[in-house]
Amino acid sequence: PGPKGLPLIGNLHQIDACKPHQTFTDWAKIHGSVYQLRFGFTPVIIASGYNSIHEILVANGSDFSGRPSSFRMSYQQQHTGFAFLDPSPKGHCLRKLTFRHLKTVGDGMVRVERLAAVANRSLLHKLAASDGAAVDPKDYFYQATMSMMLMLIFGKHLEEGDSEFQQLRDIEDSQNLGLSPGGAGELLDIFPWLRHFNNKTFKLLKHAVSIRHAFFQDYLRKMNESSDSYGKGIVDQMIRSIREEDLEEQLDDLDVEVAVFNLQVAGSVSTTLHLYCFCNIMLHNKEIMRRMQHEIDTTIDENEPIRLNDKTRLPYSRACILELFRYASTGPLSIPHKTIRDTTLQGHFVAKDTIVMTNLWQLHHDEDFWEKPWEFNPERFLDDHGELVLPDHPNRKHLLPFSAGPRVCMGEYFAHSRLFLWLTAMLRRFDLE
Ligand code: HEM
Repeated sequence: PGPKGLPLIGNLHQIDACKPHQTFTDWAKIHGSVYQLRFGFTPVIIASGYNSIHEILVANGSDFSGRPSSFRMSYQQQHTGFAFLDPSPKGHCLRKLTFRHLKTVGDGMVRVERLAAVANRSLLHKLAASDGAAVDPKDYFYQATMSMMLMLIFGKHLEEGDSEFQQLRDIEDSQNLGLSPGGAGELLDIFPWLRHFNNKTFKLLKHAVSIRHAFFQDYLRKMNESSDSYGKGIVDQMIRSIREEDLEEQLDDLDVEVAVFNLQVAGSVSTTLHLYCFCNIMLHNKEIMRRMQHEIDTTIDENEPIRLNDKTRLPYSRACILELFRYASTGPLSIPHKTIRDTTLQGHFVAKDTIVMTNLWQLHHDEDFWEKPWEFNPERFLDDHGELVLPDHPNRKHLLPFSAGPRVCMGEYFAHSRLFLWLTAMLRRFDLE
């Protein structure tokens, strides 16, 4: 099933370019939880509702664990990394290695707290400097998340104003411009030979890849020469593991470069958006903001920093963060998947290499499941005693902001912990007006 399109362009002209998730949700009401569209000549399956999405991500996750490829993405990723490739033994090895060094067990928890505290101090300082005057904090949030990602990856404290910070920002900006969906950039995916004709998008991508590569090579050189400020981040740990564990046949410097830049991009934008949405939501829900502030003030000693261990003592604040994930759904369509073999979905045959998109926004606002989904209501994640409901509660199971299964977000714990530390610290210090 699916909406009828036109011969050449398929359904592209019918989709709201700013809110495709809204168009897909409207179509789900007519065509059901699984239907097929065409983007030009390419068939794409859109899934909504818990059962179909769970089947794709978890129950039959392996069959749906591929990623669609495009000329621009393959060029930008230099055919490596793990986030935008089909599963392969090499990708698996790189994912495992990256995750091992990102993982937050044991001293990892202390590390997240330490890094979050450094970036947070600077963020709170910038917010306080406005001294009550109106301020748009979006760029402050971006700088804080980016700065924390850079400490984690490169082991260095870099801030706006440092030349290396600026270089990294240039890399990200050029990448984003080159990869932005829609417009002239798409043409390069359809006609890759345009790169031989002074194509503007290709020039941007080429620039992004070459400055990223130069930055990384320079970083490795300095890391090999020095032993103090360098060498405390994920890059150093990954390179050391590759040598010590005889993985050189499978992985090299370029693999590490692309993997850590995947982390940096994934980790900066998503958290910035959540911080920003949270402020907006609180401005329209002052009662909830006050209740969260009250919980923090009456639970944590005012001279003590808020720690990750305090999570269990702040159930209302945690429920606000879960509700933020649901209500804001900042990645409404997640990242597209692709079938890696012939399979089935809700009883329909799906051929190998079919693109599949999960409409997480619909899942999080499904009127048949959520009571008043358009209201910001943290109570839906609390039980009668004011405690957070357990992970197997239906409301928690229907909340998949980080997706699930073999492709689940690698930074889930990290992102969740960082948001908890920053949002509680921000509301403890400031009233949003
Ligand atoms: C609130 C913040 C975040 C949200 C809501 C979020 C959400 C997501 C989602 C929905 C996916 C796609 C999963 C799929 O394809 O099924 C994803 C992938 C990914 N995320 Fe996150 N993310 C967040 C923060 C982070 C952070 C902080 C990092 C890194 C430290 C990170 C690293 C990644 C990576 C590497 C992938 C690709 C995984 C793969 O393809 O195997 N994310 N994320």
